[in-house]
Amino acid sequence: MPPDPARVRRARPRARPRQRPGGDRHGRARLHRPGAPGRPAAGRPGRGGGLRGRPVGGLQERPHPGAVRAERRSHDHRDRRATRDAAPGSLRVTGRARGRDLGPRAFATAGAEALAVLVRAAPVGIAGYLVLTIAESGAPIATAWLTKLVIDRLTDPGGGAVAGLAVALAAAGLGAAVLPAIARYLHAQTGRAAGIVATDRLFAASERQVGLRRFEDPAFLDRLRMGQEGAQRTGELLEGAGGLVRGALVLAGFVGSLLFISPAMTGLVLLAAVPALVAELMLSRARAEMEWGNEQTHRREFFYSQLLTGVDAATEIRLFGIGAFLRGRMMAERRRANEAERAMDRRELATQGGLTTLSAVVAGAGLWWAVTAARSGDLSVGDIAMFVAAVAGVQASLDTLVTSISALHGRLLSFTHYAAVVRAEPDLPSVADGAAAELRGGIELRDVWFRYSDDHPWVLAGVDLTIPQGCSLALVGLNGAGKSTLVKLLCRMYDPTRGRILWDGVDIREIPPQELRARISAVFQEHMHYDMTAGENVGLGDLAALDDPRRLEKAAEQSGIHDRLAALPRGYDTLLTRTFFTEADKDDPDTGVVLSGGQWQRLALARAFVRDGRDLMILDEPSSGLDPEAEHEIHARMREHREGRTSLLISHRLNTVREADLIVVLQEGRVTEQGPHEALLASGGEYARLFRLQSAGYQEAR
Ligand SMILES: Nc1ncnc2c1ncn2[C@@H]1O[C@H](COP(=O)(O)OP(=O)(O)OP(=O)(O)O)[C@@H](O)[C@H]1O
Ligand SMILES: [Mg+2]
Repeated sequence: MPPDPARVRRARPRARPRQRPGGDRHGRARLHRPGAPGRPAAGRPGRGGGLRGRPVGGLQERPHPGAVRAERRSHDHRDRRATRDAAPGSLRVTGRARGRDLGPRAFATAGAEALAVLVRAAPVGIAGYLVLTIAESGAPIATAWLTKLVIDRLTDPGGGAVAGLAVALAAAGLGAAVLPAIARYLHAQTGRAAGIVATDRLFAASERQVGLRRFEDPAFLDRLRMGQEGAQRTGELLEGAGGLVRGALVLAGFVGSLLFISPAMTGLVLLAAVPALVAELMLSRARAEMEWGNEQTHRREFFYSQLLTGVDAATEIRLFGIGAFLRGRMMAERRRANEAERAMDRRELATQGGLTTLSAVVAGAGLWWAVTAARSGDLSVGDIAMFVAAVAGVQASLDTLVTSISALHGRLLSFTHYAAVVRAEPDLPSVADGAAAELRGGIELRDVWFRYSDDHPWVLAGVDLTIPQGCSLALVGLNGAGKSTLVKLLCRMYDPTRGRILWDGVDIREIPPQELRARISAVFQEHMHYDMTAGENVGLGDLAALDDPRRLEKAAEQSGIHDRLAALPRGYDTLLTRTFFTEADKDDPDTGVVLSGGQWQRLALARAFVRDGRDLMILDEPSSGLDPEAEHEIHARMREHREGRTSLLISHRLNTVREADLIVVLQEGRVTEQGPHEALLASGGEYARLFRLQSAGYQEAR
């Protein structure tokens, strides 16, 4: 949803491919510095990829990116509010909650999730990788000991044969060269398999969210994106674990060898590693927090970059001449993110520079001691070779260990976001069993109150309304009166704050949401443009129709778009986008077709019509973009279609609603008038005022 879904209002939302986490739109991998896992590379065009194409509702509650500073000011306030609002399993992240998120419990949860994913994805690959890692760890220790023995035998006149040792040395060298390559291959395979399982689980979890609330919560969106990245990089956890095992085994081997030569020196070398370990862990934590803090910045940057490179805003950007202005904002976001990353890099440089110096000093002191001891005859030449190898081995393995721990720590931190999304409670309670019975009596809203949150004003303030079965009901009201909100409540995208909605007397909260939705067909005000084929754009209304051309055509005929679709270069198989081309089109990638606004609206209608036979048809401004002829024709067809069915039509063009069985006026959150057209006109209320106002405009034009 990349133009940051939470922030951009798109008059015509389009479904676009999700951007690949961890890469750009085309799936190119982002760079990240080895040894600092989890670190985002500079210049991450791919940030914020994700749920583009989700229809975006009202603008008011979604702060525009320009409101960033104001948003910041209100941050504390929101944190307080969030804590108050937090339901069990809430994903809102407050300052304090964030600290908890990075606590041991969150780590344990993330670790358990990661293990579950890895074991499910590639149990054999994991086992093979671990076995190879263990075997690989033996090679440097064996090499060091064999080298010592060879040198001792060569320098001792009666030392014995070395041919066997030389062969063993060659075998150890071969192992050291080949095993890591095989392990890398296994790790890559396992990582890819784990990425698929984890990504699938993540998206399945986000689909489990019943309503829309989570997707309007910036903290959830950030987590979702970081979770996507975590999912793609699950394999790095295995790499971290492998490094840990390898580091520990090599360390144990070399420490044993060093102990054999000098216990004091062993202690000194190990002691030098403690600050490194602590510092790396702290750095890893600080980096994860920095990344989390930068997440919003990256999302805003991505939003501007999409605006500047996408076709949707290109016309306005050119006409209004706002390209440089938007670019300035994008670059400001980039600088802000860079600033945070630079500070982190400096901190790392200072810490790691100090640690390297410490290691070099320890190694130098050890060498000085060993050479002196050899001079006085306390050590053999082979001992010196062993000593040098052991010091280097201990330091290298400690380095591996520290890096692996910090990598594991960093990856686990990112994985906490994944775990939080995967384990998130649904935003609305839902029952799993039961079915929505066919509508017989009607749908009733009983004293329904609704506001989007405690901080928003009431949108519906005690709506009492009955939609009898078989009735065509029209809902009218000014902009912002709450008509689309009411529709979303009927589809259970939100629950009423107070009051109840009854489906034949049963509270819709007691019906499984998918069952309820299966009984409803709809054209939403913010309908989707799917960058898919024409047939798919219709068939998505009812997946069973996707392979039934007759049904697709019938629905398209009803909405008056069939002739246009049939005349496309590949008929219903033509892509309705210039963003991609299919395998079939690769010799002629220009076959993608761009439709007009009204034609898209007809497609949305076709998508609703293909869901034939549902109990309730919702039409929220279905004809706002149609030409007068088409509007007339479509409304005539819709009337036919609605005949004997329950329908809810919302339209500002009052001539299109006059034939509804019942017209309901929504004003200030309540139903203020209802009745058939003639009666409402005679009563001289708001409907009559609006109707006369509109018809006067037409009469003047005559
Ligand atoms: N997701 C949301 N979060 C917060 N407030 C919202 C949200 N969606 C809509 N609103 C607010 O709810 C009120 C009613 O909006 P709604 O979209 O239901 O109006 P409407 O009657 O459909 O208007 P229109 O005729 O313009 O389509 C508006 O004041 C709007 O700002
Ligand atoms: Mg609306």
